[in-house]
Amino acid sequence: MLVSPSIISCDLANLGSELKKCERGGADSIHVDIMDGHFVPNIALGVETVKAAKRSTSIPLEIHLMVERPDIYWKLFRDAGGSRFLVHFESQADIARLGAETKKEGYKVGIAINPETRFSAISDIVGDFDYLLVMSVHPGFSGQKFIDDVIPKVKESSEFISRNKLKTLIEVDGGVNLEKGKLCAASGANILASASYIFSSNVEERIQDLKSL
Ligand code: DX5
Ligand code: ZN
Repeated sequence: MLVSPSIISCDLANLGSELKKCERGGADSIHVDIMDGHFVPNIALGVETVKAAKRSTSIPLEIHLMVERPDIYWKLFRDAGGSRFLVHFESQADIARLGAETKKEGYKVGIAINPETRFSAISDIVGDFDYLLVMSVHPGFSGQKFIDDVIPKVKESSEFISRNKLKTLIEVDGGVNLEKGKLCAASGANILASASYIFSSNVEERIQDLKSL
């Protein structure tokens, strides 16, 4: 299992040392939640945080854009040091076009879907993305409870991707702990994003626990 610690609930006053713990734990990427107060009812992190993270670690930064217009703002995060971008199907951008633009510039890109969005809504374009981010909470806040109802969607996505021989990796984000991570693994997830589970305890151990799934 690949693991992407989400720094929204790390000790931001000590971002550099939190990222070193992620390195020691073997984190595969660092998940950075960007919230604009419009697409989600919260404002969090931003360009300066991404720049600071980039200065502190060489682990690739994945930028989860919970913003209404990812097509306008993704380039700010590219210039700040983001390696890949997770953009929401439910945003106001033309997501197929944004995916193509991002890839053309040489960056990896993922399509993110909220808990209430069905897989069938994006099945015809999912193969054009490097990642499918299945949200297992309503985006906006760290520390929410995992919504078990998304598990069949992870399974459906995984079966579709295998059947059609696509290369898209499935990532699950929100409320992921060891127990829910096991369910995700059994349903075909490739990557787990997790914030409060990892940063509320021994960071290295928690990353390793999730990686072992
Ligand atoms: C939710 C964010 C998640 C969040 C996960 O809006 O997209 O990435 O940080 O936090 P936990 O793991 O605490 O649910
Ligand atoms: Zn996220």
